[in-house]
Amino acid sequence: MNETYFEIRPILPTDKIQIQVGLKMLSPESIRQRFFTNKKEFSEKELQFLTEVDQVNHLAYVAVHHKNGNQLPAGVIRAIKRSDLETHAEIGIVIVDCYQGMGLGRKLFEEVAARAVAVGITHFYGDYHTSNLKMTHLLNKFAKTRSPLILKHTGDGFIYFEALLKN
Ligand SMILES: CC(C)(COP(=O)(O)OP(=O)(O)OC[C@H]1O[C@@H](n2cnc3c(N)ncnc32)[C@H](O)[C@@H]1OP(=O)(O)O)[C@@H](O)C(=O)NCCC(=O)NCCS
Repeated sequence: MNETYFEIRPILPTDKIQIQVGLKMLSPESIRQRFFTNKKEFSEKELQFLTEVDQVNHLAYVAVHHKNGNQLPAGVIRAIKRSDLETHAEIGIVIVDCYQGMGLGRKLFEEVAARAVAVGITHFYGDYHTSNLKMTHLLNKFAKTRSPLILKHTGDGFIYFEALLKN
């Protein structure tokens, strides 16, 4: 079989190995930008939290690279509410370095935003480092057809962002 394509789909409990492999494929810089620490591997408990999600309070989607019959982890996005009553969800996203700049981040953002609106989430928010130009570009593109982003420098080298999902 000689074909290659990307699939965007909700994360599954069976994605635990793929999530662990994906972490190993990331550069130290991407790991720092995503987790703000030097994360080496996920514990069993973390893998359970990351893959066994309800897609209501914890939304998560993956990008998978299908290549010649193999499936390679290409990226993950998640949007997490702190409680049932919240309408705001915190975003975490990472694309494996060799797949960055190909539009996968944008696709994952749109996919999780559509699901978020369907389950009553009104805003996405999060933090990223001021040096993270790729995240700046991604957020600007995402906000272009929506309301302007709220951006605040938090004073510790990070930017807090908030995006309204629907006008
Ligand atoms: C930030 C990140 C998620 C972006 O994902 P990506 O798949 O590389 O981004 P995309 O390819 O979808 O690009 C989104 C838009 O930004 C633009 N863009 C991306 N990188 C750019 C760059 N360096 N310069 C100019 N524009 C850029 C793209 O052109 C694209 O616009 P388009 O859709 O009109 O072409 C990815 O780089 C990443 O995983 N970084 C490490 C982890 C991280 O920083 N996470 C964020 C904090 S949680």
